[in-house]
Amino acid sequence: MKRGTALRAVVTAAVFILVSGLVSGRPAAGEDPLPAGYWTHPLALQGEAPADWGEAERSLEPRSCAQCHEEKYAEWRSSLHAKALSPGLVGQLIGADAQDPGSCLRCHAPLAEQGQAFREALDKGLGHDRTAQGLAAAGNSCAGCHLRGNRRYGPPKADSQETGQGDPEAPHGGVYRSADFADSAFCKSCHQFPPSWGAVNGKPLENTYNEWKASPQAAAGVSCQSCHMPGRKHLWRGVHDPGMVKSGLAARIEAAPGMARFELTNSGVGHAFPTYVTPKVVMKAVALDAGGRPIEGTEVSHVIQRSVGSGSDGWYENFDSRLLPGKSAVLELPWGGAKGARVWLEVYPDDFYDNNVYDGLLGSLDGEARKLIAKADEEAGKSRFRLFETELTRPD
Ligand code: HEC
Ligand code: HEC
Ligand code: HEC
Ligand code: HEC
Ligand code: HEC
Repeated sequence: MKRGTALRAVVTAAVFILVSGLVSGRPAAGEDPLPAGYWTHPLALQGEAPADWGEAERSLEPRSCAQCHEEKYAEWRSSLHAKALSPGLVGQLIGADAQDPGSCLRCHAPLAEQGQAFREALDKGLGHDRTAQGLAAAGNSCAGCHLRGNRRYGPPKADSQETGQGDPEAPHGGVYRSADFADSAFCKSCHQFPPSWGAVNGKPLENTYNEWKASPQAAAGVSCQSCHMPGRKHLWRGVHDPGMVKSGLAARIEAAPGMARFELTNSGVGHAFPTYVTPKVVMKAVALDAGGRPIEGTEVSHVIQRSVGSGSDGWYENFDSRLLPGKSAVLELPWGGAKGARVWLEVYPDDFYDNNVYDGLLGSLDGEARKLIAKADEEAGKSRFRLFETELTRPD
């Protein structure tokens, strides 16, 4: 190679590294991609682990991964992914006209080995029993996202951003690292119903990936993982977590001359707020008298929700008042005879289960299934919380 060409090659490479570094600082999705069919359901059995692997490394139990990945395990255990084989799910799977468990387990306990374990428990009449459920009880577990054919898959190496097949002499026989792990599409197979499952008033019942795709956050390269797994933490906080919900909203609460005014904006949720059909959010205000007591009959509210129902013709939508990214809702309370006002936001993460699904099931189930649904119903009723509670004084 002539000197000029060599120099140009070096300069081009430097510019390329600089540009790609500026754009994302990370390898692009699709570089060393995950194998085709990584999320094809049902997943295949892992098969035999290499003969020289120890007991912990060949196990699919999250507790075994914990021996070497303690922090990830502690985070995951506190997340809803770890609780996905929940009483509300299992109660439906062992109920009177239970469906094929596979149609639910594909997202709630996706490994083929989990399906086997759950079916064995069902065959013994012990589907409700956590010890009999074996590996299925782990829900959406480490191996479900990271193992195919006993091979470990993970994101680019944290320090070097290296992708591709690791050294076969390294632990796990070398991890295969792919930028696809940091891409929103990784979450799609469970957080987006495919078009073939139909739509309700033009939108699939679960439409999170598509909502994200149309968001300004997607355009700016902000992925699901950026918000739900910052620093690669395995917490996946969502609508059940007050701090997480607050982080996505901007509230403007003011004592205007004629009224108390509450404006709520979806300032940092990278999809509709809320994305799913099960939560209900209510903006509320009530007038206060001179002693700071609520004045009866003055409470006003605005519901933020995608309200759906189902009947003999299938699903229907009552209304959809969710806030798309950047959008706002306003609640106004005229002062009337009031001296002040109290303003707040109520979040019911499990409203649809609490007030619709579980009440219906409790009427038709008995035995262990009924016990599980009663437990789920109780938990769903308790998950509510309040945000932005403030008292305003009427301006003179
Ligand atoms: C006996 C200890 C041990 C057990 C058990 C274990 N791992 Fe690992 N794992 C390691 C070590 C050590 C590394 C670092 C490998 C490297 O840098 O090449 C690693 C790397 C990884 C990586 C890649 C992370 C990175 O550094 O890029 C993933 C993903 C992973 N393990 C998942 C799992 C899962 C899932 C389980 C349980 C099913 C598990 N591991 C069980 C020791 C273990
Ligand atoms: C395409 C993936 C997918 C399938 C298939 C699926 N779910 Fe879910 N399910 C989810 C997700 C995601 C959530 C959490 C929703 C949210 O908060 O956005 C959820 C939440 C739930 C909840 C509330 C949380 C809990 O565990 O108590 C229940 C109950 C539930 N699903 C039952 C079922 C049942 C029964 C089936 C089978 C008929 C099923 N699901 C099939 C993805 C799925
Ligand atoms: C729902 C899917 C999912 C589950 C369940 C899951 N992970 Fe991960 N894991 C990911 C994703 C996605 C990333 C990469 C995130 C990113 O790049 O922002 C990751 C990253 C990792 C890493 C690399 C961390 C680093 O700092 O480089 C390790 C190690 C790991 N996971 C281990 C585990 C273990 C152990 C469990 C169970 C206790 C587990 N994972 C459960 C999806 C999952
Ligand atoms: C194998 C299916 C699967 C994959 C893959 C998956 N999830 Fe989930 N996710 C679920 C299920 C099922 C639930 C509901 C668990 C429950 O409560 O029963 C859930 C719950 C959640 C929640 C909590 C929702 C709430 O109501 O508070 C968040 C946030 C979340 N997932 C984000 C992600 C992100 C981000 C990714 C991609 C990195 C991802 N998930 C990948 C199945 C999956
Ligand atoms: C810009 C940050 C951001 C991005 C990007 C983002 N989310 Fe969220 N997400 C939030 C916040 C904040 C909440 C809590 C408020 C809420 O419930 O909508 C949330 C809530 C959720 C919930 C709880 C259920 C519900 O009804 O709201 C799920 C599930 C979820 N996100 C999944 C995802 C998935 C999957 C992606 C990518 C396709 C994604 N999120 C992208 C910030 C984000």
